[in-house]
Amino acid sequence: MEMTYNLNIRATTQREGSFMSFADSIMKPATLGRIGVKNRIIRSATYMAGADEKTGNPTPKLIEKYKELAKGGVGLIITGHTYVNSNGKASPRQLSISSDDNISGLANLVSEAHGTGCPMIVQISHAGAFSITAEDGVTLAPSDVKNPMTGRPCKGMTISEIHSLITDFAKAAQRAKVSNADGVQLHLAHGFLLTQFLSPIFNKRKDAYGGEDILKRARIVFEILEEIRYRTGEDFPLWVKISVTEGANEGYSSLEGIRLAQELARVKVDAIEVSGGTFYGDKNLSPSRAGIIAGKNEGYFAEEASAIRERVGKTTQVILVGGLRSQERMVNLFDRGTAEAFSLSRPLIAEPDLVNRWASGDGEPAECISCNACSRTAKAGIVYCPVMRDAAEGIWAPPPEC
Ligand SMILES: Cc1cc2nc3c(=O)[nH]c(=O)nc-3n(C[C@H](O)[C@H](O)[C@H](O)COP(=O)(O)O)c2cc1C
Ligand code: SF4
Repeated sequence: MEMTYNLNIRATTQREGSFMSFADSIMKPATLGRIGVKNRIIRSATYMAGADEKTGNPTPKLIEKYKELAKGGVGLIITGHTYVNSNGKASPRQLSISSDDNISGLANLVSEAHGTGCPMIVQISHAGAFSITAEDGVTLAPSDVKNPMTGRPCKGMTISEIHSLITDFAKAAQRAKVSNADGVQLHLAHGFLLTQFLSPIFNKRKDAYGGEDILKRARIVFEILEEIRYRTGEDFPLWVKISVTEGANEGYSSLEGIRLAQELARVKVDAIEVSGGTFYGDKNLSPSRAGIIAGKNEGYFAEEASAIRERVGKTTQVILVGGLRSQERMVNLFDRGTAEAFSLSRPLIAEPDLVNRWASGDGEPAECISCNACSRTAKAGIVYCPVMRDAAEGIWAPPPEC
C-alpha cells in the first residue's frame, strides 16, 4: 500500500502491516557501496569554492566548512568535484587532486570528517569543454565541436590524450586512497568531460571511443574504472554519479542512461548516484531544479532511479539525488525500493545540521526554497545560502531570482 502524503505528521508509511518510520528506516546504520554509514542520508558532491586558487588545496575555512557538515549528522560526505589534471579545472578555487602535493590537504579534510565519525569520498572529474584552465583557451572535448554555451571551438582529443586522461583519473583515485578517503566517486554527470563522451552532441568520434550506442561512447568510462581498480585494488569503494538523461535537445535519453547504469553495475561499481540533466540543457530538466516544494515535486529522478534499481543487482547500491526535501518522501521512496540512500546538496548549504535536526525528532522539511541563489555566491568566498543568512539577520527577503 502506498503511503499517503501528510507533511504535518511524522514520517511513517504502512506496508502489509509493517510500520516504517524515518528513524527506523533512513536513520538506521547501513552499508552503502561497501562503506559503513550511520544513516542513509548523503551530502551530494557540492562545489563550495574555498580552495587555494593556485594549488587547489583546501583552505582552513573550507576545512572548517566540511567539519561543520560532518558534525551536522549526514551519513557520508562526497567532496565537491576535484580536478584530475591541470587543464580540467571547472571553477575558481576548486579542489585539486591533480598532484601528489594535494594529498596532505585532502587528508586533512578526510581526517576532520573521520573525527566526527563521518566517512568521506572524493569526487573526481575533468571539465573538458567547460574547463577554465585550457591551454591557449582551447578546451578539450571528445570531438571538434563548438561549446554549446559559449560557441567557442573545442579540440577533439587524440588517442594519446585519452590514454593519459585515463591515467590521470586513476592516479587521482590513488591519491584519494592515500589521503585515507573511504572511496572515490567518478563524476559522469551534469555536462563535464565524461558526460561529453556519453553525449551524441559532443562525441562524434568514429573510432573506438565513439559510436551510435551509448555503451560505445562510454568506453572511456569503463577503461577509467578498470584502471582505477587496478591501481587502488578491488577493496577500494568505487562509486559513480550519472546524469541518467542529458536533458538537452539531441542529447542521450533516460533509456540510454538506464542501459549505461546496468553496464556500470555489471562491472561492479559499488554505488550509482542517480542525477540527471546538464547545465547546457533544458533548465526545467537541470540537475538543481528551482521551485521544489516538499510533498509536491520532490525527488525528480525517482522514476529513473527506480528503473535502475530494478535492473541492477543488490551488489550495486542506488542513491537518489535531486530535490529531496522531506522525511516523508525519503521514507516512501525507501519503502518502495526506489533507492537505498538519498543525497542532498542545497538543503545542506542552507542547513548544514539538517540531519541532526531531523534526528532530534523535528519532522519539518528542509528549509531550502530551491532558488539557486547559492550557486552565485562562490565569488565572495565559500558558497553559502543568502536566504538563510538574511533570515538569521532578520532581513529575510528572497533574492530576485527566487
Ligand atoms: C552550489 C552547487 C554546487 C554543486 N557542485 C556539484 C559538484 O561539485 N559535483 C556534483 O556532482 N554536483 C554538484 N552539484 C549538484 C548537486 O550535487 C545535486 O546533484 C543537485 O543540486 C540536486 O540536489 P539538491 O536538490 O539536493 O540540491 C552542485 C549543486 C550546487 C547547488
Ligand atoms: S540559496 Fe539557500 S534557499 Fe536558495 S537554493 Fe541555495 S541553499 Fe536553497
